[in-house]
Amino acid sequence: MAESRKDKVKRSPHSENAAIVAPNPDPEYDLSTAILRKKSAPNKLIVDDSMNDDSSVLALSTNTMEKLQFYRGDIVLIKGKKRRDTVLIALVDDSLEDSKVGINKVVRQNLRVCLGDVVSLYRCTDIKNGKRIHILPVDDYVEGFTGDLFEVFLKPYFLEAYRPVRKGDLFFVRSGAHAAEFKVIETDPADYCIVVGDTAIHCEGEPVKREDVESSLTDVGYDDIGGYRKQMAQIRELVELPFHHPQLFKSIGIKPPGGILMFGPPGTGKTLIARAIANETSAFFFLINGPELMSNVTGESESLLRKAFEEAKKNSPAIIFIDNVDSIAPKRDKSNGEIERRVVSELLTLMDGFKSRSNVVVMAATNRPNSIDPALRRFGRFDLEIDIGIPDPAERLEILRIHTKNMKLSDNVDLELIASMIHGYVGSDIASLCSQASMQQIREKIGLFDLDDETIDAEILNSLAVTMENFRYALRVSKPCALRETNVETRVVYVA
Ligand SMILES: Nc1ncnc2c1ncn2[C@@H]1O[C@H](COP(=O)(O)OP(=O)(O)OP(=O)(O)O)[C@@H](O)[C@H]1O
Ligand SMILES: [Mg+2]
Repeated sequence: MAESRKDKVKRSPHSENAAIVAPNPDPEYDLSTAILRKKSAPNKLIVDDSMNDDSSVLALSTNTMEKLQFYRGDIVLIKGKKRRDTVLIALVDDSLEDSKVGINKVVRQNLRVCLGDVVSLYRCTDIKNGKRIHILPVDDYVEGFTGDLFEVFLKPYFLEAYRPVRKGDLFFVRSGAHAAEFKVIETDPADYCIVVGDTAIHCEGEPVKREDVESSLTDVGYDDIGGYRKQMAQIRELVELPFHHPQLFKSIGIKPPGGILMFGPPGTGKTLIARAIANETSAFFFLINGPELMSNVTGESESLLRKAFEEAKKNSPAIIFIDNVDSIAPKRDKSNGEIERRVVSELLTLMDGFKSRSNVVVMAATNRPNSIDPALRRFGRFDLEIDIGIPDPAERLEILRIHTKNMKLSDNVDLELIASMIHGYVGSDIASLCSQASMQQIREKIGLFDLDDETIDAEILNSLAVTMENFRYALRVSKPCALRETNVETRVVYVA
């Protein structure tokens, strides 16, 4: 019988570790995006809603509790997205499937996850009893509330409940007819602790503003970038692997690349990618905006640059991101500015100085790669160049899905059709298309209400939904950035 290819790989006599083979020897398997593939493990579970509206608990089926060796009442560390984690009490709920974990909406927000996302669970063994915690209410719930917040909400909530709390988390408390949301501002002795009888609970101070709470919830993450799978995989290999697993590079005997240059037309999402990396990686992130760095005072720009690199070195592992790098590092022979020339030389020196340190990555983005000084683009400096080009139809569809995620769409909207119609559109064009379509929907409904009225009828608000016609209108009036340069104005010539 013919030996299968898989068996041959396993028995290869050339390999010292014959038992360690690549997880998928299929030649079709695309290794360039291997880092994006989610690995399955027993402690990785799918997020489901919880019956319990208590924000200190998570629910698991009996089988999952047994498999993970958790006991009812154990404290579990649960990791979500954007580096968020929290501590919860494990409870049993046998209505849940074995592959799921039940957590309520507030906890999902704390972990920056949605229903269907994957979270990982670990037993939390190092949690200590809290000495002191500081908690503040969120302003919209307590406006006009004159009672004692501690007596009405916090005391009954924490009394003999041994609740674990995590710094930065929100939680919801109901007390009779009142409800309030609170934020954990400070915890002592560590970022998470258990609130016991001896823990001092402070709640004095100005309430937290709702806008601040919401703006942190909408931080950009990897999920907000549509398309560019291969490019994202390349970037994540370089910003995540060396920091999390430096031994990989040590044992193979090379240094990871120290510099990445992202280039592509305006509006393709380069700055968006930088913001996502800043929110998702655990490394120290230092953002330098090229034009902001330039100063007319002699020596100031270079010293700012030096400070940035020093700061990154101090806080390594670190990522330095230079956005719009073309403005600080133009070709030296072409630029007639003395400051630019000195800044380029300083940047070259600083990047060379970093070569021996593998735990600082310098990233840069530009929409004019050809105007950058060529010395920056050689091996050892920005040695990896990533093309963030114009998206293809499948990528356009992904971007379109992201931008319509929170929009109310009518049933007749066919996103696939729209994606196939917007040749040449980049991410920012797609964002503008969606907002134009929504504006058109609002214009259609303007006749139904009086602009001078304070409020708008709920019925009118409910009837708002962006239609395919609105998208068609937006398509007619919008022009993609990338094709704007090729637009030719035609003049009507009358021949007598
Ligand atoms: N791949 C994408 N997925 C989702 N949204 C995108 C994408 N690319 C761009 N956008 C949208 O376009 C906006 C502008 O993108 P961004 O500022 O990142 O472009 P850029 O590449 O940095 O452009 P420039 O070269 O002009 O600086 C983003 O805030 C986002 O709303
Ligand atoms: Mg940008």
